[in-house]
Amino acid sequence: MIIAIDGPAASGKGTLSRRLATHFGLRHLDTGLTYRAVAAALLAKGLPLGDEAVSVEIAHNLDLAQMDKSVLSSHEIGEAASRIAVLGGLRQELVELQRRFAEKPPGAVLDGRDIGTVVYPNATVKLFVTASAQARARRRTDEMIAKGQEANYASVLEDLKRRDERDSQRTVAPMKQAEDAVLLDTTEMDIETAFQAAVDIVSRA
Ligand code: DC
Repeated sequence: MIIAIDGPAASGKGTLSRRLATHFGLRHLDTGLTYRAVAAALLAKGLPLGDEAVSVEIAHNLDLAQMDKSVLSSHEIGEAASRIAVLGGLRQELVELQRRFAEKPPGAVLDGRDIGTVVYPNATVKLFVTASAQARARRRTDEMIAKGQEANYASVLEDLKRRDERDSQRTVAPMKQAEDAVLLDTTEMDIETAFQAAVDIVSRA
């Protein structure tokens, strides 16, 4: 059983995916972390983000168990991940890694940008989780403030819009709702309501 969850940054797809995995007894992979881990390694080595050969090599040796979300979730690493995500060879390497993870029983919830379109076009069920850019920026700003970080709503909104644009306009595996994905717009929902809606969609499938 494969549950494919795609959607833009700060849509809530990560939280939903984790909770769906627990609820249905499946393994979970946040595929954004795989792009972030490669980006972080390039940044740490001071290497250019456009170096495809090196990024493929890093991806080839990536250990999913070593990915530390708290380290990889920084804004700088997110931006760098979105930049390297245009590299076709790198995507191929990471997609193989993601499939190897998901194929182990009993199945998995994968979240990202291209799960329903590229990684698992035959997924058991596909969700495209979204919310207005304003709602996503508001949630992201509140999250940052809760963590004691400085946050400015207007610049968070600008950043999100720029990232959406880059992720949806790239030529290779752009972020896009698969034709057979169910759209879950959480603009007017709190996390509990969104989770219940997601459980209903998966249960029906
Ligand atoms: O979901 P996230 O913010 O952790 O993802 C970081 C970047 O990685 C995102 O801007 C684009 C890229 N990404 C991707 O291209 N394909 C995926 N399946 C997941 C993430």
